[in-house]
Amino acid sequence: MGVLSSMFVIPNLLFFFFETTYGIDSITSTQSLADGNTLVSKDGNFELGFFSPGSSKNRYLGIWYNIHDKTVVWVANRDSPIDNSSGILMINSTGTLVLLSQNKSVVWSTSSLKQAQTPLLQLLDTGNLVLTDEKNGNSEDYLWQSFDYPADTMLPGMKFGWDLKRGLNRRLIAWKNWDDPSSGDFIFEVKHHNYPEAYLFQGTIKYYRVGPWNGIGFSGSPGLWPNPVYAFTLVYNQDEVYFMFTLKDKSLLTRAVLNQTTSMVQRFTRKETAQSWKFYDALPIDRCDSYGVCGAYGRCIITESPVCQCLNGFKPKSQQKWDSMDWSQGCVRNKPLNCQEIITHGFVKFPNLKVPDTTYTWVNTSMNLKECREKCLSNCSCTAYTNLDIKEGIGCAIWFGDLLDIKQFPVDGQDLYIRMHPSELGMENGHKKNIAAIVACSIVVVSGMLLGSYYVCSKENLRGIMERMRIIVHTSNSKGPEEDMELPLFDLSTIARATDDFSLNNKLGEGGFGPVYKGTLLEGKDIAVKRLSKSSGQGLNEFKNEVNLIAKLQHRNLVKLLDQTKSNLLDWRKRIDIIGGIARGLLYLHQDSRLRIIHRDLKASNILLDNNMNPKISDFGLAKLFGGDQCEANTNRIVGTYGYMSPEYAVHGQYSIKSDVFSFGVLILEIISGKKNRGFRHPEHHLNLLGHAWRLWIEDRPIELIDDSVGDFNIFEVLRCIHVGLLCVQNRQEDRPNMSYVVLMLSSESLLPKPRQPGFYTDSPREADSSLSTTCSENKITFTSFEAR
Ligand SMILES: *[C@@H]1O[C@H](CO)[C@@H](O)[C@H](O)[C@H]1NC(C)=O
Ligand SMILES: *[C@@H]1O[C@H](CO)[C@@H](O)[C@H](O)[C@H]1NC(C)=O
Ligand SMILES: *[C@@H]1O[C@H](CO)[C@@H](O)[C@H](O)[C@H]1NC(C)=O
Ligand SMILES: *[C@@H]1O[C@H](CO)[C@@H](O)[C@H](O)[C@H]1NC(C)=O
Repeated sequence: MGVLSSMFVIPNLLFFFFETTYGIDSITSTQSLADGNTLVSKDGNFELGFFSPGSSKNRYLGIWYNIHDKTVVWVANRDSPIDNSSGILMINSTGTLVLLSQNKSVVWSTSSLKQAQTPLLQLLDTGNLVLTDEKNGNSEDYLWQSFDYPADTMLPGMKFGWDLKRGLNRRLIAWKNWDDPSSGDFIFEVKHHNYPEAYLFQGTIKYYRVGPWNGIGFSGSPGLWPNPVYAFTLVYNQDEVYFMFTLKDKSLLTRAVLNQTTSMVQRFTRKETAQSWKFYDALPIDRCDSYGVCGAYGRCIITESPVCQCLNGFKPKSQQKWDSMDWSQGCVRNKPLNCQEIITHGFVKFPNLKVPDTTYTWVNTSMNLKECREKCLSNCSCTAYTNLDIKEGIGCAIWFGDLLDIKQFPVDGQDLYIRMHPSELGMENGHKKNIAAIVACSIVVVSGMLLGSYYVCSKENLRGIMERMRIIVHTSNSKGPEEDMELPLFDLSTIARATDDFSLNNKLGEGGFGPVYKGTLLEGKDIAVKRLSKSSGQGLNEFKNEVNLIAKLQHRNLVKLLDQTKSNLLDWRKRIDIIGGIARGLLYLHQDSRLRIIHRDLKASNILLDNNMNPKISDFGLAKLFGGDQCEANTNRIVGTYGYMSPEYAVHGQYSIKSDVFSFGVLILEIISGKKNRGFRHPEHHLNLLGHAWRLWIEDRPIELIDDSVGDFNIFEVLRCIHVGLLCVQNRQEDRPNMSYVVLMLSSESLLPKPRQPGFYTDSPREADSSLSTTCSENKITFTSFEAR
């Protein structure tokens, strides 16, 4: 000690020696700690002092468990050892904690922003060495703390991650060796991407990823989800992004250590009274955790051989390399995505995954899964989405670019929804049952024969869900398929056999185009066949029109199949969702699709509801394509359905997007009231539903319109919907809003214009009857009505 000659060190030292007592847990600025002396936390668990690891002669200042094997948890001067026992720790006069060696050179020091008036260095029971200002009492506002500068060990209560304000990254760096605490090249740290997650790096190379936090645990280690020993929390806000574990069983000690030799973060536990540490768990878990082992869009399944497979819908980028177990190039889509056709894209759910690398992600904590899907779908660079918090089922995380480092677990794990080419939809990870529910309808027009034009749908579809439609159009014997739409083609004899030669027993009903038959294909699949009848006023043109439109337009709202509205199933929330869905679908037809389309026969029976009650607009038999900015036309044949037709269309055959808006308005009022416009009866008057709604509106009691079976509702939403409905059915088409304004009105709280008197509000449009062609589609018949049998 005599070598220390500084005027201010020596008095401190003397003072320290004078004051020293066994078991002291703190020193002030007038004291110091020399090699050979220690601080011990109040509860006796942790000790701070100088040590030499293993066979090394170097001296390090560190903290260890104060139990017989003295496991070191923190090292101050790990990269600048002292080669003798001259080390001394003290608080210098500017309040910095400094470690000095014999020639009083500073070996290690703390960085503190604030200067304490009466600094105190204390070893806490948690193993945290803290520098406080005694002036602040017991404040946890530490001037410096060892927990902010971890070595290779994480203790309960330690923050692992970022203090973004200070740019402080609390991470683990392995010891080089068991007897050398200097920094090894394994680093375990949190990357604060939009969607934060912890990585194990070897140097700068990603070695392993724990997977992002999903509300229950880390996506990549479901085995560690709720356990009896410790609990994890994630704090993620503008100032901080960190994980922290806390001990559940207080009678245990636990620590997690990053070990260079094993390349693992290993957790040990120990009863205070036990003689040694017990291994509890470790990350990474298996070779499927090797970062990116299967390349982009590959998934690693530890129980498979080989462990790497392409995700369904993807194939090896290089089959040759893949076959030789070089998976690094990963997989590519069977069918590349075309961003011009974004509207045809969909998502396939891949369950039980460690979700991909989160470097290129975006998150939102309040969106639900449906909104998340919309968000992802709308941007072609978005490749996948999932819930941020799978425990609560909320929040949205979306990925951009290639999906990397995916692992699949036999159970647990997380669902990921991946963007897919339309032809891959329905191939849900080999879940055959789901495929069955989403099997396509085919429309088959057998060469030249009007009588041989059919829809063929799987029976399951009739339940309502249909994500996609495959169509083959044969218009003549010679030309073959009109468009390149790879589809199962049924020939007439197959269909005849399936329907028992169109036997009456198999007839389900009669639609606008003709009769519909149930049938069974040879392989046992139930189908429905819609047969074009020669006598139908609606002829081949309408039919082809529908086929072509649906073929071109595989929008998810626009598919064939419907469900009967069982009104008691439809609470207010569902109704308002359906109204919004139809509005967006119609907006798409009018404006967003590549083709400008007027549906011309929008009505309740043409709105299909899938299992989740998502509405789909169907039946394009009467739809018209418009070129360029052509918005209005006259027709010599008026086709459509009573009760939904706008006055100008029914009377003058003049149709425009505003005729669809009228029909939509009728639909809104029908959905709210649970009554059909056509055939509406009221004891007090002879008005139809529109007139009734209008009357209630001007008498200031619109709320009476609402269907008794909706249950709880939000009165402002109901009023808003009725208001928008009335705006849509106004008599003059110039007064009616267009669909983009409708969508806006439905989704905002802005003031709405006053509605004027609706068109056709007195009963059905008798005055228009004479001008209606006999080909009006009554269409009481729909596919679902067959299903209902
Ligand atoms: C205290 O130590 C720090 C870090 O070595 C140094 O920057 C500062 O000048 C020292 N203060 C005094 C009064 O020596
Ligand atoms: C102090 O000692 C260390 C080794 O203990 C040495 O590296 C350093 O150069 C010395 N500094 C001075 C100023 O002598
Ligand atoms: C790392 O693990 C090895 C093997 O279990 C062990 O011998 C070694 O002491 C550990 N290293 C450290 C720094 O704890
Ligand atoms: C899609 O997302 C990417 C990545 O966030 C962004 O750069 C791009 O601008 C987005 N494109 C559109 C059309 O929003």
